[in-house]
Order: sequence, then C-alpha cells, then structure tokens
Amino acid sequence: MLRSKLILLAVLACVGLWLGQGVAIAAQNLLGQGTAPQVHHCALVRWLRLGSGPTLAELARGQDLYVGTAVNLKALGRDRRYRRRLAQNFNLVTAENDMKLERLQPRPNQFDFSQADRLMAFAADHQMAVRGHTLVWHRAVPDWLVQSDWSRDELMAVLENHIKTVVGRYRGQIVAWDVVNEAIADDGTLRDTIWLRGIGPDYIEMAFRWAHEADPEALLMYNDYGGEEMNAKSDAIYDLVQSLRAKNVPIHGVGLQMHVQANAAPNPQEVAANMSRLGDLGLQAQITEMDVRIRQPSSPDDASQQANIYQSMLQTCLQAENCNTFVTWGFSDRYSWVPGYFEGWGEALIFDDDYRAKPAYHSLVEVLKSHPTPTTD
Ligand code: XIL
Repeated sequence: MLRSKLILLAVLACVGLWLGQGVAIAAQNLLGQGTAPQVHHCALVRWLRLGSGPTLAELARGQDLYVGTAVNLKALGRDRRYRRRLAQNFNLVTAENDMKLERLQPRPNQFDFSQADRLMAFAADHQMAVRGHTLVWHRAVPDWLVQSDWSRDELMAVLENHIKTVVGRYRGQIVAWDVVNEAIADDGTLRDTIWLRGIGPDYIEMAFRWAHEADPEALLMYNDYGGEEMNAKSDAIYDLVQSLRAKNVPIHGVGLQMHVQANAAPNPQEVAANMSRLGDLGLQAQITEMDVRIRQPSSPDDASQQANIYQSMLQTCLQAENCNTFVTWGFSDRYSWVPGYFEGWGEALIFDDDYRAKPAYHSLVEVLKSHPTPTTD
C-alpha cells in the first residue's frame, strides 16, 4: 500500500516538474528571451530511459568539459537510435566529413552548406557546442582545385575565399576550428601538399589569420595524428606552433587526434608531458578524434584493453590544465570509418554496432564520476 502511494507520488512529482518546465519554456519562448532552455528530468525519468545512471553529457555538465563526437550526417538523418544516443551522451559535435572543402565548395566559389547547416541545427536544438573540421587539409580537395594550374596568388585567393566564407557563415557558433589539419609528415617535415607546393610554408599562418578575421571569437587549432606522445612528430608540431606564436599568429591550441590501437596504448605520462609543454606556450590541447581500433577477429581481452585506453586518455585530459575537450571519431561501431580504412581492424568506438554501451563507455562514465568537480568561486 505504502509502496504504491510512493510510486504514485513520484509519478506526480515528475509530471509536475515536467509541466512546470513546459510552462517556463513556453513563457521564455513567448518573450523571446534567454538562451535555449534545458529540460531537467527527474530521477524516475532518467531511470526509465537508461536504467544505468547518468550519461556522459550529464556527467560532463558538472565538469568543465566538452565531451564530443564526430557526426555522420547520413546516419543522423535516417537512424533514430543514432540520434537518441548522440543527444543523450554528448555536449559537442563535429562533422565527420561535411565541413571539409570538397563538401562545402564542390565547384569553384559555389558553396553547399546544406549538410553542415543540418548539423548546426541539431546542435542548437540540443544545446551542443560545435567544433569546425576542417579548413585546410591535403585530402578532401575537389578535382577542380587539384587539376588546375594555379599561380601562387590565385591559390591564395582560393584559400582565403574558402576560409572567410565558411568561417564567416558560422561566426559566433563554432567553439573551435581545426584550421590546418595534418600539415606535418611522419618524419617531422612539412607534408608535400597542394597548399605547400602552390603557396609555400606561409600558407599555414595565412590560414590562421584569415580564420581569425572571419571569427575573432573562435579558438583556432592545429590538428594532427601521431603526435600525441613525445616523439619526432609531436616535436615538429611543437616547433611549428611555437614559431607561429612567436610571430603572433592567432593560434590557440593543438588537436591530438588519437587514432590508436588497443594493443599499443599511448603512454599517459608522455601525453601529459606533451599537453603540458603546449600549455607552457599558452596553447590548449584537445583530444579531437579518438578511436581505439581492435584487430579482427577480436579476443575477449580486447574490449577491456580498449576501455583502459579510453579511460586513461580522458583522465590525462582532465588532469591537464589546458585540456577541456574530449572528442571521439564517431560513437557507434555501426558507422565507424575504421574497418573501411584500416583493413583487418574494427570495433574502435564506445557503443557497439547495435548501440549497446561497451566497457569503453562505462570506463569513461567512471572517470567522470570519480573526477572531482571543479569548484566555482
Ligand atoms: C575520415 C572520415 O572518418 C572518413 O569517413 C573519410 O572517408 C576520410 O576522413 N583524420 C581526420 C579526419 O582529420 O577528417 C579523418 O576522417 C580521419 C583522420
């Protein structure tokens, strides 16, 4: 008897909370005031929804942390479970492919923002921040650009137009842009790209300056893979960003992509040391594209090794003074780029291909639960 009364009371309290928020949101909309409203669910609703406690995004809210993921716009359009998991677990999104040059400017000076706009709308509807990815890269360059014989001035004009148009369109709505992506080769020299050949090494600082002119508030990042630990590549990245800082180029951070293998865990002390030396230059360090691929067919130990790597990298980020962003390159194995790109590898993400949370997901939850919440003065 008492039990059913308590349940009834809990249901009534939930309905009351829900109705109260509905009235408040309607009033806010009517008056056109304030930022996008956030709905708070009572414990009963949370329990019914997941049956397993707070989600990553709910936990990240208590930390000063962006926990993000790359979004596949096709999946976003057609897969309801994909949308639900995305909305529940992340407070930041980035486009896996739809903000790359060939997508945004498929023909000279003809821009197609349709897909990127859909992502921006989803993010706004769900109070998510957005990282922009990416303005200057040697890949995803359309044929019209590769096949022409540009003079240096012409190529500079193409790049300036692209950057200013794209960054300008989303001015004020992007927390961080990957301005230059993967410009350094694995041996530490500047990668031989259409931009280096056509413009010379200055293309890097030009790109940052143009992006800054178009959106002075956005954080501007250099983003790369393989330079997470202390090694020749991260030394070269360090030298590059140090020289940019010395020239007063508007650069605010370095993205550590973190595409790694479950059988080769990055050394947390080295990643921490690398983040710290970037911090000494006044730069942020962000984990921008993490996935942990497993050799196929997988063995039972792989999932827990993978979970340990996700866990230790999130911990490393939270412990660093200059890391407030942790992004995975997709979230469900159903849509990961890994099997298509690394033959014989897969299962790299934190949900399986049927959206079940993997040990990696739970390990991230545990880190966020156990990390002390920053105090606000
Ligand atoms: C990848 C996408 O995931 C694939 O779908 C696409 O075919 C190729 O690009 N580093 C980056 C990302 O900066 O843009 C890449 O994304 C993965 C490696």
